[in-house]
Amino acid sequence: MTASAVPQNHALDKDGVRHSHRTMLLEDRPVNLDGFVEEWPEVGMVAMDSAYDPAPSVRVENGQIVEMDGTVRADFDFIDQFIADKAIDVATTEASMAIPAAEIATMLVNPKVTRAEVIAVTKGLTPAKLLAVAKTMNIVEIMMAMQKMRARRTPANQGHCTSARDNPVQVVCEAAEASIRGFAEVETTLGVVRYAPLVAMAQQIGSQVGTGGPLTQCALEEATELDLGMRGITGYAETISVYGTEPVFVDGDDTPYSKAFLASAYASRGIKMRFTSGTGSEVQMGNAQGKSMLYLEIRCILIAKGAGVQGLQNGSISCIGVPGAVPAGIRAVAAENLIASAVDLECASGNDQSFSHSAMRRTARLMPQMMPGTDFVCSGYSAVPNYDNMFAGSNVDSDDFDDFNTIQRDLQIDGGLRHVKESEILEVRTRAAKALQAVFAHLDLPPISDAEVDAAVYANGSRECIPRDVLEDLKGAQQVMDRNVTGLDLVKALEATGFSDVASNLLAVLRQRVSGDLLQTSAIMTRDLEPLSAVNDANDYNGPDTGYRPSGARWEEMKRLRHVTSASNPELEVE
Ligand code: 5AD
Ligand code: CA
Repeated sequence: MTASAVPQNHALDKDGVRHSHRTMLLEDRPVNLDGFVEEWPEVGMVAMDSAYDPAPSVRVENGQIVEMDGTVRADFDFIDQFIADKAIDVATTEASMAIPAAEIATMLVNPKVTRAEVIAVTKGLTPAKLLAVAKTMNIVEIMMAMQKMRARRTPANQGHCTSARDNPVQVVCEAAEASIRGFAEVETTLGVVRYAPLVAMAQQIGSQVGTGGPLTQCALEEATELDLGMRGITGYAETISVYGTEPVFVDGDDTPYSKAFLASAYASRGIKMRFTSGTGSEVQMGNAQGKSMLYLEIRCILIAKGAGVQGLQNGSISCIGVPGAVPAGIRAVAAENLIASAVDLECASGNDQSFSHSAMRRTARLMPQMMPGTDFVCSGYSAVPNYDNMFAGSNVDSDDFDDFNTIQRDLQIDGGLRHVKESEILEVRTRAAKALQAVFAHLDLPPISDAEVDAAVYANGSRECIPRDVLEDLKGAQQVMDRNVTGLDLVKALEATGFSDVASNLLAVLRQRVSGDLLQTSAIMTRDLEPLSAVNDANDYNGPDTGYRPSGARWEEMKRLRHVTSASNPELEVE
C-alpha cells in the first residue's frame, strides 16, 4: 500500500477535536439544522404529558356544570365558562366522564364502534378527559381513529396560492393550476396588505377556470376579510384564531364570545368559515400558564365547538416549530387533529408551514394525516415555490407535487391531488391569465400586458414573472373597494369578455351561499359543482372493506405520473 492510499483518519471539527467520519457526516445532515429543546413543563414546553395539567372531573347541578377539571364554577376563566356552558353536553357529561379514558380510546380505534357512537360519548367530555383519552393512544392508534372520525368520507386538500411580489397575474395562474391539480380550497395572503382586493380577485377567477369548484380565502385582518367574503370575492374564511389561555386571548383583544359573533356574521351570508388554533401558540405568545400544549389546544377545539362553527384548522399551523422541538410533539399534533374530528368538527389538518430541513422528517410529519385521510390533509399545501409562500412556507410545496402524487399511488391513499399533463396545465394557466387581463380591462384596472401573461403562464414562481407597477396596482386595489366591486361584478365582467365558462363556474359557487349548503360540516364543491359534505358524504368507515377507498376513475387518475413505463408504449415522455 502506498502512503497516499492510507485513509486519512483525521476528522476534526472546527475546534480541532477529532471525531469519527460518521459523526462528522451526521453532523452535516439537514435534520441537525432543526431546533430541539428539552421539556420545560413550567412554561408549557411539553407536548401532552405535564404534571401541571388538571385531572378530569365534572359536576352538574340544576342543569349547569358547576365544576370542571378540578375548578369550581366561581373560579372559571372565560374559556372554562364558555366550554362548560356552550360546548359540553350537560345531559350526558356525567355518564361519559365515568367511562375510563382507555375504554373511550378503544371505542375510537375499534372499527366496529360507529362514528356516531363515539360522538355520543365525546360530546360530554371535558378538556382534561379528552387529553386523558389522547394520552392512551400511540401514533398508529391515532391514525386508525382518524380514518373513522374524519367527518367527510372523501378526503380533500387545500392549497396556498401566494406570490412573494403579490403579483395578481401569477396568482391567477397558480389558482388555475391548483384547481386542475385537485385542491378543493385555495387561499392567499399578502406581503403588502393593500394589494389584497386584486390578488383575491385573481385567485377567485383562476380557481374557476377549467372544471372550477374550489372555494377561496384571503387571510387578512378580520374586518377586511369579512368584507371580501360578503362581497363574494372570497368563498370561505379560516384564520379566525382562538387560543387556550385567557391572557393570550385578551392579547388579541378577543374573547370566545367576540369570535362566536364573527362566526355568525359569516354564517348570516352563507359563507363557509372555520376557526384556527394549534399547539404551541400559547407558549409562543408567552402565557401557557404551565399547561401542556395539547391540553390548551383541546380547550381551543371546544371553543370552536361551543361557538357553533362547523370546523377548525388545527395541527399547530404557524406554531409547528414549538411542538416540533419537543418529545412526542408530532404525535401531539396528530392527536389534536383527531380530537377535532372526534368532536364532529371538520378538520383542516395543518402541514402548512415549513418546520424541518429534513425531507424524511417532513414526510413523517405528513403521514399521520395523509395515510388515514382528513377533511383537508394539508390546510395549506404550497401550490407555489417555497420562496413565494407568504404564509411562511409550507411542509410541502410545488416542488413536491410529483413526490406527493407518487406517495398517493404507492400506498393507494388519497391526498386529494392528481398528476396533470403539462399541456393541460399550460392551457388553464393561459386561459386564467387572459381572463384576468380581460376583467382588469373591463373594470378599468391597471392593464396586464401580453408579455406578462406569457411570462406568468410559463413561470415556476414570481422570479420569472414581469414585475407590476405596484403603485398603480395599489390605486386599482383601492378602486375595487371604493367602487364596491363584488363577486357578481366579476361574473358579469367574465361573461362580457368571452369567458362565460369561467363566469358560470363562479356563479355556481357564489349561488351556494344562498342555499347555505356550504355551512354544513366539511363542505366542499365537487368537480361537478355540487356541494359535498358530511351530510351527503358522511364517513361510513366500519372496518376493512368499508369507508372511502380510492377506486374507479379516481384510482385510475391516481395511477398516472409524469413517467410511467408502459408495456404497449415503452417510450418515456415528459407529461
Ligand atoms: N393558533 C391560532 N391561530 C393560528 N394561526 C396560525 N397558527 C395558529 C395557531 N396555532 C392563524 C393566525 C395566522 C394565520 C395564518 O392563521 O391568524 O395569522
Ligand atoms: Ca389554511
